[in-house]
Amino acid sequence: MVIKKLTLENFRNYRRETFEFDRGLNILTGKNAQGKTNCAEAVFYLCTGSSLRIRHDRQLIRSGESCARIGAEAESRYGTVLLEALIFENRRELRVNGNRVARAVDFVGNMRSVFFSPGELRLIQDGPDERRRFLNISISQTSRDYASALLRYNRILDQRNNLLKERDVQMVLETLPVWDEQFARYAARIAAKRREYLAELGTYAAQTHAALTDGGEQLSLAPDHDYRGSEEEIAERLKKELARNYERDLRLGFTSVGPHRDDIKISLDGADARGFCSQGQARTAALSLKLAEVEIFTRLSGEPPVLILDDVMSELDLPRRKKLLSRIGGGQCILTCTHAERVLYGADSKKIRIHGGRIVP
Ligand SMILES: Nc1ncnc2c1ncn2[C@@H]1O[C@H](COP(=O)(O)OP(=O)(O)OP(=O)(O)O)[C@@H](O)[C@H]1O
Ligand SMILES: [Mg+2]
Repeated sequence: MVIKKLTLENFRNYRRETFEFDRGLNILTGKNAQGKTNCAEAVFYLCTGSSLRIRHDRQLIRSGESCARIGAEAESRYGTVLLEALIFENRRELRVNGNRVARAVDFVGNMRSVFFSPGELRLIQDGPDERRRFLNISISQTSRDYASALLRYNRILDQRNNLLKERDVQMVLETLPVWDEQFARYAARIAAKRREYLAELGTYAAQTHAALTDGGEQLSLAPDHDYRGSEEEIAERLKKELARNYERDLRLGFTSVGPHRDDIKISLDGADARGFCSQGQARTAALSLKLAEVEIFTRLSGEPPVLILDDVMSELDLPRRKKLLSRIGGGQCILTCTHAERVLYGADSKKIRIHGGRIVP
């Protein structure tokens, strides 16, 4: 997958700018607060239909404007694809090859990317929310089925949580089993997909981590919740678990079991990585996870995803930086860094300088 052109209109601090990217390494440089991350964010948005930094799309619209537009021309081995997102205050329009798509799940996954940022490198030390987000974004890009199950699950979860806050306990207890049917069905689909994905991710991550640490450390991943058996079996067990927790859920006013609460167990040499790793070790382990994501995307689509490396090089020591760059292989990479670090990269990369939301000619 290669992005050839990216156009930003009234997006963040950009008025109107078109980026033309090369197949290999593209380096965006500039001082702080000039628009490097904004550009990386736009690419990420076209791949995932969301942003990592914000809750409300309207924050993406340039101050004082009413609509932002991100457009890209990308090339995969199946041909050219045109992606477009129009973002308004309270709604958005998504287009693939000029045709409006009604559902986000039909938009996501047309262009695949793996995003590296200092935040992603904290994946190990951060809370379970971040690891769930990582899994959700990663699996949604590769499985429409997962993306749509997740959407429905979140909707049902919201409704179930609202129900739990109702005063009429009798009514709530009578209604819950109806919701739980649906809840368990989508939860089981999500859990089963995550189990499958984590198994593959774990294999690649272990190999990558061994390579990054010269065989010194063994990394392993596992779901923290035991979801054995078929989707039907998972759903049945989950329904029972939900029923066992009615009282607690009513007291808390939210749903205390389900994939929205699950985590990934990450261990290094058999010990829980969160409580045990040094910062450097944790960053390397996170890097292994992200590189494993690259491997999976490459295997699934037969070509490497676009790598977006936002500000990560300064967080890594020289050997890890070199190893990361060597893994980019034949794929496309969009890398941001401040002006000073630019000298680190070879002459065969495309350099784009950004100043105040504009490309410096
Ligand atoms: N909706 C918006 N409208 C106008 N400007 C915005 C909007 N959102 C963000 N900005 C501005 O965009 C600027 C650049 O942000 P960005 O995160 O891309 O910087 P950067 O080049 O990555 O800097 P750094 O090197 O510090 O990471 C910020 O100064 C911010 O105020
Ligand atoms: Mg930045």
